[in-house]
Amino acid sequence: MAEITNGDPVLRLSDIGKSFDGVTVLDGVSLEVPRGSFVALTGPSGAGKSTLLRLVNGMHLPDRGTVSTLGENPAACSRARLRALRARVGFVFQQFGLVGRLSAMENVLMGALATLRLPRYGVMSYPRALRARAVEQLDRVGLADQRFQRCDTLSGGQQQRVAVARTLLQGPELILADEPVASLDPAASVLVLDTLKRISAEDGISVLCSLHQVELALSTADRVVALRGGRLVLDEPARDLTAARLRTIYDLAGARDG
Ligand SMILES: Nc1ncnc2c1ncn2[C@@H]1O[C@H](COP(=O)(O)OP(=O)(O)O)[C@@H](O)[C@H]1O
Ligand SMILES: [Mg+2]
Repeated sequence: MAEITNGDPVLRLSDIGKSFDGVTVLDGVSLEVPRGSFVALTGPSGAGKSTLLRLVNGMHLPDRGTVSTLGENPAACSRARLRALRARVGFVFQQFGLVGRLSAMENVLMGALATLRLPRYGVMSYPRALRARAVEQLDRVGLADQRFQRCDTLSGGQQQRVAVARTLLQGPELILADEPVASLDPAASVLVLDTLKRISAEDGISVLCSLHQVELALSTADRVVALRGGRLVLDEPARDLTAARLRTIYDLAGARDG
């Protein structure tokens, strides 16, 4: 397993280019995520945010440039090495990615499947120590009392917090979140992002999180980057930014597209 030393960024993208069917989606993107930081990836729909996140864990490979994720280049990894890398990188999706008919607890336990050899059937088939860790992570996201509830009976915000707990059970060094609050109401959005921010800080996990809402990016992230038309047009500490300035990124994109 690749090691990175303390000063190194957990993620470094260098001059990334990516096209689909001859259409350029990312064009000369360079980006670093420092260890332990929460970086918001903003930009209008179609800007290339999801594509960028997929490049980080090797779901896509770049046409040019290099990706270094936790010291590994996904394009140069064997399948086994890529699997090992993905175990170190958590992924949180807009649509939660939970199994609705299973309990919160069982969904969280599935976060550990990569480290267990056999498929599991039911909560009791998981080792006791792992079950204790799953309850602990559910407690940290405020859902220990709901652990036996079917996920499809939980609210959207609760489901996303279950997804965060599942990712935490995996013990990631980096969490990628692709518009994790795009399907949630404002109050639930704030709670999910605050939970992710608090726990990642406690555990020293770095986060790269795409967000549509300018205010949420500014209130949550240490650093804000913005993509527009596949190019990185902004990369600054959140404290140096205003919502008005960040919003011009979207307005300019609208003017260009319209
Ligand atoms: N697998 C793919 N095949 C073809 N085009 C794609 C694929 N993935 C994304 N795209 C295109 O790339 C562009 C950027 O998409 P995406 O990364 O999903 O943007 P965002 O997440 O910022 O909305 C879009 O025009 C989209 O249609
Ligand atoms: Mg997207």
